[in-house]
Amino acid sequence: MTEPAGPPQGRPTARRSLEVAPATLPVGFAGRVVRWQRTHGRNTLPWQNTRDPYRVWLSEIMLQQTQVAAVLGYYARFLERFPDVRALAAAPLDEVLGLWSGLGYYSRARNLHACAQRVVELHGGAFPRTAEQLQALPGIGPSTAAAVASFCFGERVAIFDGNVKRVLSRVLAFGDDLSVGANERALWDHARELLPARALQENMPRYTQGLMDLGATLCMPRNPSCLLCPVQADCGAAREGQPQNYPVKTRKLKRSAESLWLLHAQAGDGTVWLQKRPTPGVWAGLYCLPVFGSREALEEVLPAAAQVREAEPFVHELTHKDLHLHPVQAMLPQGWAGLEGAWFKAGEWPSLGLPAPVRRLLENA
Ligand code: ADE
Ligand code: SF4
Repeated sequence: MTEPAGPPQGRPTARRSLEVAPATLPVGFAGRVVRWQRTHGRNTLPWQNTRDPYRVWLSEIMLQQTQVAAVLGYYARFLERFPDVRALAAAPLDEVLGLWSGLGYYSRARNLHACAQRVVELHGGAFPRTAEQLQALPGIGPSTAAAVASFCFGERVAIFDGNVKRVLSRVLAFGDDLSVGANERALWDHARELLPARALQENMPRYTQGLMDLGATLCMPRNPSCLLCPVQADCGAAREGQPQNYPVKTRKLKRSAESLWLLHAQAGDGTVWLQKRPTPGVWAGLYCLPVFGSREALEEVLPAAAQVREAEPFVHELTHKDLHLHPVQAMLPQGWAGLEGAWFKAGEWPSLGLPAPVRRLLENA
């Protein structure tokens, strides 16, 4: 085990709370972020230049764990198929999962669907207009609620995603460990104090986007571009000369590993056997090749005479777990039905919600 990274060397933590006391918060910070966003921020993303909460909410959910470039195509396809929250609420979950297929973190898609239904049933199809009410909906955490409320309704609420934690911990030289809940709450309190104070309808959306843009384009995890930064004069970390010392986060994600055998049963002509994954669990609700805990367990379900071939194993990373996947190919007769599930023709499975590694396997078979 390595020592957890402590606070920046030579800067006793005890001083920190004094340094970031409200009286020392940078004056005029919000205005500098707003003005910079206007001229240097991102202003042509497809979920911008609208105050339609459906469109903003959809983008925020997709962007939670996924990069902008990867989201663009999915966002366009979703809006084409589900132009408003009623269309999404009325769709079968399977279709939503199918369109989501490849974006990962599928609980987002299940919550998306549940949220749309809740908005229709509880709110007559109109998203609530405050972060507090938005947070009560499935899949909408405090930061996503703040993003939607500030973008669409100009509410004075602070987003607090990874980018914002990085930017603000640097500006304030906030050296307390953010894996401690109380420290994170303290930084969020400062985030609220830094919000614009007037012309909120105009300034809140710009400020919120500005912080996201700063984090994504200048204040990067490594080698931030401090010389181009509109808040460099405010920035404690830049003054110290080691901005990458922030944020301080000592708790490391504990990763585990699991080996799984995937039965890739084919009946000729690209027909494959798929089953729906149970909820909860890995890939819940998605269609998948049958999963087994050992090669022996897999072979037990096959006819004795079946020809099997083990393909190249590979590792698929989930958030907390490395999956060591071992595909096992077997040619089986059409009439075989030794497991839960069904045969899907070559033209059928591509539109189903499949885990990304399983889709790649099938596409490359
Ligand atoms: N990530 C989360 N929300 C975003 C937004 N509105 N624009 C760009 N990236 C984002
Ligand atoms: Fe980030 Fe540098 Fe700007 Fe400070 S000056 S906010 S460290 S880019």
